[in-house]
Amino acid sequence: MIVTNADRMVCSVHLSEDESAVVILDQTQLPNRQVYLTLQTAEELYRAIKTLAVRGAPAIGICAGYGMYVLARRRAEEDAASFRAGLEKDGAYLVSSRPTAVNLAWAVKRMLGVVAANSGKSNAALVALLHDECIAIHDEDIRMCAGISEYGLSLVKPGDGILTHCNAGPLATSKYGTAIGPILLGKERGIEFRVFADETRPLLQGARLTSYELQRAGVDVTLICDNMASLVMKNGWVQACFVGCDRVAANGDFANKIGTSGVAILAKHYGIPFYTLGPASTIDLDCPTGADITIEEREPEEIKTMWYREPMALPEVKCYNPSFDVTDHELLTAIVTDRGVVYPPFDVNLKKLFEK
Ligand code: MRU
Repeated sequence: MIVTNADRMVCSVHLSEDESAVVILDQTQLPNRQVYLTLQTAEELYRAIKTLAVRGAPAIGICAGYGMYVLARRRAEEDAASFRAGLEKDGAYLVSSRPTAVNLAWAVKRMLGVVAANSGKSNAALVALLHDECIAIHDEDIRMCAGISEYGLSLVKPGDGILTHCNAGPLATSKYGTAIGPILLGKERGIEFRVFADETRPLLQGARLTSYELQRAGVDVTLICDNMASLVMKNGWVQACFVGCDRVAANGDFANKIGTSGVAILAKHYGIPFYTLGPASTIDLDCPTGADITIEEREPEEIKTMWYREPMALPEVKCYNPSFDVTDHELLTAIVTDRGVVYPPFDVNLKKLFEK
């Protein structure tokens, strides 16, 4: 698959034309406003990731790749030692913005790896190499999403009901998306599905982003509150669950948006296949099990005040707001990657995927 600059420019994250900035579609403003942000400094990049203006594991990785390139350009006039040390510092700072999605640390490590592998090169030469690397990260994601979409499409039948949680569509990735990819690819080929989108408390990615993407693409989408998934499954309306992933451990446990593991438990109860779909960059073989994944905790305001005209709880009420949960690999039917569909035993088969 040949990826062109036009393919990159329509993605929710891309480089500005003069390459001095990362441009992102501010996902916090959707579905009501399409606002683009131009990120030039490490602080602006950190803030965009932290506040979820750019979100979704692969999109964060792409943003970090482009971000490191933009920051390298800004440091190009520094002496060689400051350039290298400065980029290390920028990378660590960006990685600290969100701990759970492995794609962020993976992309930064990959960019810093280019610098480390080219010790004798000038700053200008390194900047040129970093340019090629961040473009490669983006292009690979576009190709990986296309591959995942093909494999995912082979797992469902025309007319099936598919339940999804959070947002793993084009906004969170590039082009088709991961969990939403098979649905959009199917649509392109005249294959229709009925999609149930969990609204995804507390940040409503399902309502604000998934139902927006699918409705605009002409897909039959029904928005439900998270606590309605059980009834929808019991009614026989769901033939498969497709969700994204932020980090897949070596044993197949995976972190995804809070609420995902509850959906997996329900799916098991009703005998519905449950799939996570993600690129190889989301698989972390250095992480043995789900217990080794750091789970991000966020502010109580997301639960108590964010979407309401008036607070919905007393200010002194304690809140627990983990942003992700870990789904046990035993609840998982298969992991759909760009390299193929991985079935249990995941500890053996995930390793094989990287040996191929
Ligand atoms: O906190 P978010 O909105 O970044 O969480 C995103 C998810 O959990 C997605 O399902 C995941 O990143 C996969 S995106 C293809």
